[in-house]
Amino acid sequence: MLKHRSENLLTEKNMEILEAKTFLDDVINGLSLTQKQLSPKYFYDEFGAEIFERICTTPEYYPTRTETMILKNNVAEIAQRIGPNAALIEYGSGALEKVKIILDALENPNALVPLDISKEQLNMAAKKIKTEFPHLNVLPLTGDFTKLVKLPKELLNAEKKVAFFPGSTIGNFEKEGAIDFLKSVRATVGENGLMLIGVDLQKDRDTILKAYNDEAGVTAEFNKNILMRINRELDGNFNLNDFKHIATYNEEHHRVEMHLRSLTVQTVCISGVNFHFDLHETIHTENCYKYTHESFSRLVEAAGFLAADTWTDSEGLFTVVLLTSKFRP
Ligand code: AVJ
Repeated sequence: MLKHRSENLLTEKNMEILEAKTFLDDVINGLSLTQKQLSPKYFYDEFGAEIFERICTTPEYYPTRTETMILKNNVAEIAQRIGPNAALIEYGSGALEKVKIILDALENPNALVPLDISKEQLNMAAKKIKTEFPHLNVLPLTGDFTKLVKLPKELLNAEKKVAFFPGSTIGNFEKEGAIDFLKSVRATVGENGLMLIGVDLQKDRDTILKAYNDEAGVTAEFNKNILMRINRELDGNFNLNDFKHIATYNEEHHRVEMHLRSLTVQTVCISGVNFHFDLHETIHTENCYKYTHESFSRLVEAAGFLAADTWTDSEGLFTVVLLTSKFRP
C-alpha cells in the first residue's frame, strides 16, 4: 500500500518534469518555423485561466453571455434529451459555471468529470462545485483533453455518457484536428453517448473583431501572457512592451487569427536558445474558426456524429448543438 503511494508521487513529479520538457520543445519548435507559432493551449496557466475569465465578462465578448443565455432558455429541453442518470464529461471545464445550468435541470446526474489543462483552476472549481452539488460524484482530471482521455473506472458502467464542450473551443482546431478530436470524444462516450457542444457562428466581421480587440485590453493581456509564461517557466527574456496584440478576421477561412507582432528588430533568448525577430514579424498564437449551421453539421458528420438538436439565440450569434452517434445500435 505504502509502496504504491510513493510510486504515485514519483509519477506525478515525473509528469511535471515531462510537461515542462514538452512545453520547452513545443516553444522551440514553434518559434523555429518561418511563421513563428505557439499553441493556444499554452495560454492557460494559472494567470491565463484567470485572464480568460475576465475576457468572458468584457462587453465586446459576446460568446460567453450568449451561450449562457441559450443554455438557460433551453435547459428543460436539453435535460429532457439527455435523460436521467447521465455522467457528464466536460472538456476544458474552466470555471465550471455553464455546467451548473445543466446539472440543476438534470434528473439524478450520476457524475461529473471536469477535464482541464489548468490544474490550479480545475482543483478550485471542482472543490466549489462539490459544495454546491454535495451529492454529485466529481472526478476532476488534469491534462490536455485533445490527448486520449482515460475515464475514471467509476464511469465505465454509467448508463449514459455526455460530453460537454461549451465556449466554442472547437474553433481552435483545424478541420482535420477537429474531426480527430470529435472521433475521440465519440469513442469516449460510446454509441449511445451524446455530445453537447457550443459553436460560434459566422457573422459580420465587426462584431467578431471587437470581441477579440476589447477596449480594456484584456484580450491583449491574455495574448501576451503566453510570453510572460515562457519568461517564468522557461527562463525567457521577452520584453512585453516590444510586442503588440493583433487580432484579424480571415474571411476566406472564416477564422479569427491572433498574433503577437514584434515592434522592433530583436533577439529573444529562451533557455539559452536565441530567436531573431524582424520588425513587424509575428508569432501566430491562435485561430478561432467560425461556423455556419451547415458547415458545422458537415464537420460532425465526418466524425460519425449527427447534429440532432440545435439551440440558437435570436440574433444568430452562437449555437448549442446536441450530437448523437450517426450509427445507433
Ligand atoms: C476559449 C477558444 C473559445 O476562441 O473565443 C478568447 C479563446 N481567445 N479571446 C475563443 C479566446 C481570445 C476562446 N476560446
